[in-house]
Amino acid sequence: MRTIISHTRAGLRHDSAMTDPAFLGATIRGDRIRLRPLTAADVAPVVEACSDEVTQTWLPLPRPYVEADGRWFCLEFAPRSRETGQGIVFGIEFEGRLAGAIDLKRSDWRARSTEIGYWAAPWARGRGLMREAVRLLTRWVIEEQGLARVEIRVATANVASQRVAEGAGYTREGILRSAGFVHDGRVDLIVYSFIEGDRGGTSAGGVAVSGSSGEAAGRQGA
Ligand SMILES: CC(C)(COP(=O)(O)OP(=O)(O)OC[C@H]1O[C@@H](n2cnc3c(N)ncnc32)[C@H](O)[C@@H]1OP(=O)(O)O)[C@@H](O)C(=O)NCCC(=O)NCCS
Repeated sequence: MRTIISHTRAGLRHDSAMTDPAFLGATIRGDRIRLRPLTAADVAPVVEACSDEVTQTWLPLPRPYVEADGRWFCLEFAPRSRETGQGIVFGIEFEGRLAGAIDLKRSDWRARSTEIGYWAAPWARGRGLMREAVRLLTRWVIEEQGLARVEIRVATANVASQRVAEGAGYTREGILRSAGFVHDGRVDLIVYSFIEGDRGGTSAGGVAVSGSSGEAAGRQGA
């Protein structure tokens, strides 16, 4: 029997029926970018960005990263992540091109917490687009999905990613020793967080959210 977990004013409620929580499919619009589901058209740009040396340095992706890996990420992993309630994957669209990906993972619906991960296509870096994407997604998670805490975990040597987290208003909490791994071995991770009370810091300009029809099944509001 699957379980519904919902957050009510009275607290956490479990109902034995229906379906597990899952993130509501959505397109999230910011001033410059749009976060939207990945499609088959994204496979080639995903393969290109995930073959990049910097991406390969900080993410333990298949090496070489081939078309089958891109297809799996866009067409199997992404939908499964949302359907299982673990997370949700968005493509970051900028000027009609896929500028990167940003996702939620390791979501804990009872604790109302989740974690953000991301990569940017090399051509899209250095424009503050990922900072905007993190702000947009954080606001959506807290204001639209009812979660209370979002984490970002960054290798201690990944300065660009630390700048993204800090620029998006996240607070550095401490270091998790040997908590991550990259191709070169295990790494210490800095844990950053953004919590409900921090929400003033998610200001990302105009934000518009539109849900995908029929994708709300099973998600329980805050
Ligand atoms: C992390 C990443 C998404 C950042 O991309 P981005 O949004 O284009 O970020 P930028 O290139 O604009 O850099 C962000 C900030 O870091 C700074 N920065 C970039 N590279 C840097 C470096 N090597 N050393 C120090 N600072 C650096 C930039 O100057 C910028 O500073 P600002 O906030 O003052 O403007 C991108 O580098 C990437 O895709 N890396 C590979 C995957 C990855 O590391 N993912 C995150 C895993 S936790």
